[in-house]
Amino acid sequence: MVKKFPDNFLWGGATAANQYEGAYNEDGKGLTVQDVTPHGGFGPITDEPTEDNLKLVGIDFYHRYKEDIALFAEMGFKVYRTSIAWARIFPKGDELEPNEAGLAFYDKVFDECLKHGIEPLVTLSHYETPLHLTREYDGWTNRKLIEFYERYVTVVFNRYKDKVKYWLTFNEINSVLHAPFMSGGIGTPPEELSKQNLYQAVHHELVASASATKIAHEINPDFKIGCMVIAMPTYPMTPDPEDVVAAMQAERSNYLFSDVHVRGKYPNYANRFFKENGIEIEFAEGDKELLAENTVDFLSFSYYMSVTQAADHSKYDTGKGNILGGLKNPHLKASEWGWQIDPKGLYLALNDFYDRYQIPLFIVENGLGAVDQLIEVDGELTVDDQYRIDYMNDHLVEVGNAIEDGVEVMGYTSWGCIDLVSASTAEMSKRYGFIYVDRNNDGSGTLNRYKKKSFNWYKEVIATNGESLVD
Ligand code: BG6
Repeated sequence: MVKKFPDNFLWGGATAANQYEGAYNEDGKGLTVQDVTPHGGFGPITDEPTEDNLKLVGIDFYHRYKEDIALFAEMGFKVYRTSIAWARIFPKGDELEPNEAGLAFYDKVFDECLKHGIEPLVTLSHYETPLHLTREYDGWTNRKLIEFYERYVTVVFNRYKDKVKYWLTFNEINSVLHAPFMSGGIGTPPEELSKQNLYQAVHHELVASASATKIAHEINPDFKIGCMVIAMPTYPMTPDPEDVVAAMQAERSNYLFSDVHVRGKYPNYANRFFKENGIEIEFAEGDKELLAENTVDFLSFSYYMSVTQAADHSKYDTGKGNILGGLKNPHLKASEWGWQIDPKGLYLALNDFYDRYQIPLFIVENGLGAVDQLIEVDGELTVDDQYRIDYMNDHLVEVGNAIEDGVEVMGYTSWGCIDLVSASTAEMSKRYGFIYVDRNNDGSGTLNRYKKKSFNWYKEVIATNGESLVD
């Protein structure tokens, strides 16, 4: 492959606190929505944490962070994306004073990254709203959460202002439309949640995100603040104009979030949608100006699959495992969990976002969730995950193609660079990592780490700045 990736391209990997830290009740951490969803973000909610919830132990990063970060460094990571668990800092979410032990933990993590020359990229809220905020306030439906979030981000921005430069305000903010409990800490069951309250929650998150951007830039003008959305390029099932319109509408329901973050105001099409659905967003004094004056420095996104839409779904197969809905695309293969594999979709997403906004883009999640088999090769335990290498190679080739088109791409952090608990299904067996973690769905396993074949492959990709990719 010819040289395409810029010299300062941020290669790395991504994780989230709730899926790998474990230590769910250590050092003063409060419970989060994850501690009561043992079967994943769409599954049942328990009253208390239950033993079958793999996230309580995760992969024990909390106690093994040094070993893990050293492995990331060995691969040559320039950047490492993780999240701060809000409930480690404010255990209930609505306290006035932070928990020092929680803050001290992330000092250690960031120091360890910096020691290895790895830049931390930190998500402030990654599907881990403190549970108290759900039970007491119904999550983001309540405007009070803005104030709690502002207090939390002010504390962490101040604390880590010399250690962390890149921040993301909310993980996959558009997922609140599909997973209100996991994403928005909204306790009202989805079938009882009115569109009015759901979109009011969206508004609160958007205002909180703009407010965090403002606070961040005041604390350190060098901070780079990004929004984070799920990218899902949507294809029409046929050239029938009705199908094309259906695809456009589906994309707009996602663009709404990045449009507000990047352009600083609700797009006109949203106003029509609100009107037709009887939604009246309540703006507090100053919201409009706050959104307009505090747009993001860059746009980040996760990309796993494209989707396909038609005006009439009844004629087609529905793709399984796809949180944003959509139909089965007959031209694409899918992962074992039904996620349709489409490298060209990443090329399209990058171009579409860049054509729309002309701001730097950051791919902060991408990867293949697969069942891996630990085998012995030359006396070492490993995984022959050529399927993962193929997946990532093909996606990265498309990133290179988009860069050639002139798209500004800041970096790429593959999802779950070390195996962790899946968000949608809370399984250990849905693995994404370059590093295998010996833990099974029943909670058994030594938690030992083993390098997969993809470990050395990614190391080479980073060392050659993408030139080792095969087009
Ligand atoms: C994204 C989330 O939706 O996809 C991650 O930001 C998640 O938290 C990832 O883990 C992959 O999804 P899953 O369900 O396979 O873990």
